[in-house]
Amino acid sequence: MGDLHGAASNEALAAIAPREQLLFDFGWKFKFGHGSDPARDLEFGYGQGDFAKTGYFAFANAGFDDSKWRKLNLPHDWAVELPFVRDEEQKSHGYKPLGRRYPETSVGWYRREFEIPASDLGRRIAVEFDGAFRDVLIFVNGCFIGRNDNGYAPFSFDLTDFLNYGERNCIVARVDASFGDGWFYEGAGIYRHVWLTKSEALHLGKWESTVRTAVSGNSAALTLSTVVQNEGRQAVSARVRWRILDTAGKTVATAEAALQSIAVDGSANFTARTELANPALWSVDEPNIYSAIVTAESGGKACDAEEVTFGVRTAVFDAEKGFLLNGKSVKIHGMCNHQDHAGVGAALPDRIQYFRLGVVKEMGCNAVRTSHNMPTPEWVKGCDRMGLMMMCETRQMSSNPEAMAQLEAMVKRYRNSPSIVLWSLGNEEEHLQNDQADQGERIATVMVRRCHELDPTRVVSAAVSSDNEKGVSNALDIIGFNYHLGLPDTFHKEHPRRPIFGSETSGYIGTRGVYFTDPLRNTVNAYDSVAVPWGNTNETWWKFYAAREWEAGGFAWTGFDYRGEPTPYDWPSISSQFGVVDTCGFPKDVFYYFKAWWGPEPVLHLFPHWNFEGREGDEILVWVYSNLDDVELFVNGQSLGSQKVPRRGHVEWKVKYEPGNFEARASKDGKVVLTEKRETTGSTVAIRLTADRMEINADGEDVAMLKVEAVDREGRPVPTAGNLIGFRVSGEGVLIGVGNGDPNCQESDKEPRRSLFNGLAQVILQSTKTPGEIRIEAVKEGWEGPELTPAKLTIATRKVESRPAVPIANIV
Ligand code: GAL
Repeated sequence: MGDLHGAASNEALAAIAPREQLLFDFGWKFKFGHGSDPARDLEFGYGQGDFAKTGYFAFANAGFDDSKWRKLNLPHDWAVELPFVRDEEQKSHGYKPLGRRYPETSVGWYRREFEIPASDLGRRIAVEFDGAFRDVLIFVNGCFIGRNDNGYAPFSFDLTDFLNYGERNCIVARVDASFGDGWFYEGAGIYRHVWLTKSEALHLGKWESTVRTAVSGNSAALTLSTVVQNEGRQAVSARVRWRILDTAGKTVATAEAALQSIAVDGSANFTARTELANPALWSVDEPNIYSAIVTAESGGKACDAEEVTFGVRTAVFDAEKGFLLNGKSVKIHGMCNHQDHAGVGAALPDRIQYFRLGVVKEMGCNAVRTSHNMPTPEWVKGCDRMGLMMMCETRQMSSNPEAMAQLEAMVKRYRNSPSIVLWSLGNEEEHLQNDQADQGERIATVMVRRCHELDPTRVVSAAVSSDNEKGVSNALDIIGFNYHLGLPDTFHKEHPRRPIFGSETSGYIGTRGVYFTDPLRNTVNAYDSVAVPWGNTNETWWKFYAAREWEAGGFAWTGFDYRGEPTPYDWPSISSQFGVVDTCGFPKDVFYYFKAWWGPEPVLHLFPHWNFEGREGDEILVWVYSNLDDVELFVNGQSLGSQKVPRRGHVEWKVKYEPGNFEARASKDGKVVLTEKRETTGSTVAIRLTADRMEINADGEDVAMLKVEAVDREGRPVPTAGNLIGFRVSGEGVLIGVGNGDPNCQESDKEPRRSLFNGLAQVILQSTKTPGEIRIEAVKEGWEGPELTPAKLTIATRKVESRPAVPIANIV
């Protein structure tokens, strides 16, 4: 997938108006503070008067000695760097020492010095955080600026009054992860991007520009709207112009709104309409994106401009027909996902977001649910560009000011994204659903109303794990059922006019590459045959949803395995095992179930492997996923007969194990279309490295995702290999994380070594800003035994225009 920016580059916008958006990720210093001892927390809160007068926080002044602090770049998650602790209270957080009982590892200080030129005087300058975990205090140049108290919503502060113009400045963030927002791994620290934005005193309002589309026949009417704010010293007249660009960057429509006078500290709404002839609709197969360049002008000069990307599409939930995209019935093939990945925890470079979406798309999904929080902007952008629909969920279900601010930020920020087809107020709020159902209905009513005010184009739902007959459900536009396949039929019968979908389904558990459940090893066989008591196997839930036209479809729990909430086992398990793929994105076999029944291509997948040394003579279950008519199985050349593939099902045989091979031949209309073979491999003699891309951008952000495999003499992957492999990286890149998808592996995510898990491991390499090459060598490390031929790989890093960033000023 190519560049995910809009049609207009930053440079193009800068050429229109003097707004700057600078990436503020590079060149930070970091140090642990302390959650209970001020002496170890930069003396913050040592006495009474920290907040008594403005300007006395010495650690936030340029020149403060941070030479012993650690240098790092954002995004950063310090939780993933911490050791695991055997403490059942920390289980949900993946056994990481975070919380008030772990004061030494729950508070982090981030510090960054930067220059602001004298010429910036008079501009509005703000710092914007896309999200941090969790309670953040911001200080600039000795002054306290503000706080943020949640782990997922973006927050920003206007720094204009606090900056030293023509001099050095300092920003400090104290990030406290003592409290959590969830019951899953949440990370710790500034784990999303930070930006420094500079605009003129007359500027566009934040997330105020909207583009609404109404398709009729061969054209689409666009309703354009924005807000201009005047933070200058005198009233001014301003107008707004819109230029609409297609994917190729060609102007396809324009509009303008007449001059209005805007008082000092005032703002004005501007609206206009225009039309798109023969619009290229947005869909999951053809995610066509348009851009609106919104320009605010005063005195004949452009003073601010921004790009809003949008799509033209209709998305309708219907009580009888399920879901319709552009008037056509489309079943939601969805997966719920948390936001962490192997090796990096919650701090994902943008490219990993797109990598993960690619995995999800590859399995045949057309939708994702951002359970249980507002996603990072790159995830949404990826869905827009790659054609995945979204159920976008806020974290806190409440009508209190904090929760309303989170909800507003989510809806305002993402309401132009065509991928989002519904908003979600939250997940399984048992209290608001059952024992305090009236409270629940009132709270949800306020939240739904606010969503509709900010975005009249989308419906609002929530993920509910009961009968949906009261509480929050009474306020929702459409009804989401979590699990409990016994409930939707009754609800549909009694409320035939209310659209229904599966907000959370499945509950399958399985360990990648494991075919015999072993409670002593905390593993579960990967056949789609085990589910948690409140859930179902993937085959069961999908057959249920697919058979009911009125069901809009559903979101399985989960696409990826995730850290924390280890299920079904406790320690030493540190991740869940619900995923269709593991924490690295390596497919479990059930991936091919979805590919077969959701995807467009012919599929044949045969499993398990055939390396069951010690089980000679035992019966082994052989499964095949295919969407073709019949499958015939051959074991060591002998046919075991052919079976018809049941719709949305699989076929299986029991085969006595002896080393050798077995093969499946799948046919359509009597002709063999696909064949697949598994054979007993030899032992591991070499390591193999492959990368998702052999060339990446030399921008200090891009990454290559490497697969590490064990292979036998004939180059066949050894599916049971568990060798420890070491990685030597040199050149213009760094190793930022390793993983292997093993839910029970407590090796470091950051050290340059990893054991293979059932034959596989992952290494994530990030470029520096210098073009060149990254060289990696994978070698046998730290164990006795036969030599393995090392593997070498070179990734090229090409020169690119880096995103405009805050320069790094002489960091010691
Ligand atoms: C659901 C919940 C998810 C996850 C899942 C585990 O009830 O919504 O967040 O906890 O159970 O099965």
